[in-house]
Amino acid sequence: MQDPEYGTNRRRFLSAAAAAGTAWLTSPGALITRLSAQSSESRIDVLLNEPVGTIAPEIYGHFVENLGGVVYDGIWVGEGSSIPNVNGIRTRLVDALRKVKPGVIRWPGGCFADQYDWRDGIGPREKRPKRTNFWVDADEWSKTARRDGPQRYDPNEFGTGEFARFCKLVGAQPYFAANLRSLPAQEFWRWVEYCNSPANTTTLAAQRATDGFTEPIGVRYWGVGNESWGCGGNFDPEDYATEFNRYTAWVPSYGVRLGLVGSGPNDGNVDWTRRFFGKLSRTNTLGRLWGWAMHHYAWNASGGRTRDWLTGKRDAVKFDAEQYYDILREADEMESLIEAHWAVMGETDPRHRTKLVVDEWGAWYASGTEPFQEALIGQQNTMRDAVLAGLTLDTFNRHADKVAMAAVAQLVNCLQSLFLAHEDKFCLTPTYHVFDMFAAHQGARSVRTLCASPSTQYSRNGTPTTMRGLNGSASLNASLLTLTVTNPSMDQVREAEIQIHGGTARSATGVTLAAADPHAHNTFEDPRAVEPKPVAVALKGSGIVHQFPPASVTKLTIILG
Ligand code: AHR
Repeated sequence: MQDPEYGTNRRRFLSAAAAAGTAWLTSPGALITRLSAQSSESRIDVLLNEPVGTIAPEIYGHFVENLGGVVYDGIWVGEGSSIPNVNGIRTRLVDALRKVKPGVIRWPGGCFADQYDWRDGIGPREKRPKRTNFWVDADEWSKTARRDGPQRYDPNEFGTGEFARFCKLVGAQPYFAANLRSLPAQEFWRWVEYCNSPANTTTLAAQRATDGFTEPIGVRYWGVGNESWGCGGNFDPEDYATEFNRYTAWVPSYGVRLGLVGSGPNDGNVDWTRRFFGKLSRTNTLGRLWGWAMHHYAWNASGGRTRDWLTGKRDAVKFDAEQYYDILREADEMESLIEAHWAVMGETDPRHRTKLVVDEWGAWYASGTEPFQEALIGQQNTMRDAVLAGLTLDTFNRHADKVAMAAVAQLVNCLQSLFLAHEDKFCLTPTYHVFDMFAAHQGARSVRTLCASPSTQYSRNGTPTTMRGLNGSASLNASLLTLTVTNPSMDQVREAEIQIHGGTARSATGVTLAAADPHAHNTFEDPRAVEPKPVAVALKGSGIVHQFPPASVTKLTIILG
């Protein structure tokens, strides 16, 4: 798609740049001078001989909390349902999710996890207890939502076995979040025993066999509490570290290399990271910490307010340019957050044995666009969210040496979902398509990628503000180079010269997710309004010249000669 203003804008930009005599780089400045005089307004340098690390498939992870319409209706429709299902799990969701290769799925929360008794979700379904859901009194409930449904009073039909089966069906590794606030440590070990003890060994292994799993489920990843600074117990970092030590001491491994994940910081709270790591260093228990979980949501921070949980958020679909950019700018803080926490972790863990786990990320809007009344904090998903997903996943790829696992919040009917589903209605969101396009990066080697591009300008609370322009990441798998690029500009096409250092593009194909209007989204009635389309790719010398439409996410698949 060519912006009619493109020629004018580009000329305007180039003359401004010439006057300023600078270029625009998002990453280390070493190449600035060399890259500045280009015919295209932007430049992307892919440095094949500068590997960053292998992109863990677990970075392409998802989050399933027993919250609103995620589990009940979203995933679980029940075995007797007229909605097509595999063992009670929505078939269309299984088929679509399997296609994007989910590395890992985190369950059962979130805040729900620290109130969940895993024993409620095992054994015959008809005998399982009905319990009050953590979210029963949330302020965000729509006034007309059912008050007595499974979203508020959990029948526990979807428990450990159902979740494990779901993971198996879609090819993901399970990542359990253990309850640290309201169950004793021994219950955590017993849950591990239920999942991982060898067949015919313990009473819990026998129970597991009755539930359909004679062989161990083999769960590697375990979160030890969730947001322990908040809904997970309002601990301070030292007290949480004491609890972490207690819960993780002598956990039986049953031959599984456990990846224990500590409840890390909210956004940029490096004090939480420093003090927790400090305490574990003093108790000599840092070696137990495989991953350190950080949460970072984006919600509109402008509009004359500070971070007010309820009133500060804006609509998911109706947004102006300021709100559009503000969400993206906030999401794009991910890179500086990763770098900040990584540096602090390195103070006590200089070899960086512990990696970052960003197990909740995404956009969080005001209520009002839920796919159905009971889908608490459910929201629509536009091209803006696709751009947000592209920016974030590219950031993870570029930091493949630091980020070992991540989970977008949440899988279906909640926050930045890949799917909307209600009764027999189902659709894929633009965010789904980004995960589909980026799946090619999984398991490939991230290589250093520098984007030099005019920054995106906008007005925030009346003050001129900028966020970065083109952003991207590249990964190499034998002679296949995958380059993903996001253009966050709401209205500017960006042309980029792509140079591949250490290789030559022999052929290339492209696919772009874009729409004439960044507000575009899919609905149950119009489920294919936003879909990726193939685009032609022009080779130039050993590289490529490509135009990236406004508010778009593009994948270039390049065969190297
Ligand atoms: O994803 C919704 C909630 O956001 C989670 O339960 C909690 O961990 C976070 O605050």
